[in-house]
Amino acid sequence: MTKKPTAFITGGASGIGLAFAQAWIAQGGFAVLADLNTERIVDAISLLGAENARGVECNVTSRDSVDAALATVAATETRLDTVLNSAGIAHPEPSDAITDESFELMLNIHVTGSMRVARAAYPLLREGGGTIVNVASVAAVSGMPQRASYTTAKAAIGGLSRTLAVEWGGSGVRVNTVAPGYVRTPFTDQLIAEGKLNDAPIRRRTALGRFAEPEEIAAAALFLATAASSFVNGHLLVVDGGLTVDGNWY
Ligand SMILES: NC(=O)c1ccc[n+]([C@@H]2O[C@H](COP(=O)([O-])OP(=O)(O)OC[C@H]3O[C@@H](n4cnc5c(N)ncnc54)[C@H](O)[C@@H]3O)[C@@H](O)[C@H]2O)c1
Repeated sequence: MTKKPTAFITGGASGIGLAFAQAWIAQGGFAVLADLNTERIVDAISLLGAENARGVECNVTSRDSVDAALATVAATETRLDTVLNSAGIAHPEPSDAITDESFELMLNIHVTGSMRVARAAYPLLREGGGTIVNVASVAAVSGMPQRASYTTAKAAIGGLSRTLAVEWGGSGVRVNTVAPGYVRTPFTDQLIAEGKLNDAPIRRRTALGRFAEPEEIAAAALFLATAASSFVNGHLLVVDGGLTVDGNWY
């Protein structure tokens, strides 16, 4: 059992979720990594230390799996201070060939998954005035060819967050969204390796001229998760190195 501030992090065994766990632990917290990938969980716990974190196998597309994972937090840590919904996948495909199953899987993981976790976490979060940070993307505010399911899902995460923010604000639970630009993680590494993401034009288009490191997104998420942002609620914070504000197309 821990008395440390506790974070429940979906997709916590990799990329942005793992970087958030490191940042949370660095300021004295305990991280529960909820992830589908058990091999990655084992590696992540050996990196973070068993005194600072534990893993729980969790598939955010399953209500039973999510409810069971949050039940372990109620039973073991007995407190919950923040949730980071970072579980996600990418699946670029032409919009005229997309199947219902593929489209709905993307929404299920990102949107319904975030809702399932928020719903199961709320009774614990409201005890201590906790926070939820949902991970969207610049895809929430852009049109992107071959990303119909992803842009739809990420835009919907903003709507979910805003509604939870106003519905649960009265219970002291704040809900915000972080919307990263392109970040160096296994997620983008794989897309680049498969030829589904061309990184050179993205770097050219990003004012800072590079991808973010996961730690840079984790720092913004940590701000939204902690008292430093105590009056920020329902906000979508774009963290993209200047990508989406760039009007320099002339
Ligand atoms: N990397 C980027 O450039 C970027 C940019 C914007 C937004 N994002 C978003 O950030 C989030 C994290 O991405 P990342 O780059 O850290 O990716 P990542 O692949 O490094 O990590 C994602 C993790 O989610 C887990 N996961 C996938 N499906 C799951 C499920 N059904 N249930 C539980 N866990 C599941 C994976 O096992 C993996 O460990 C995603 O929502 C992604 O859409 C990433």
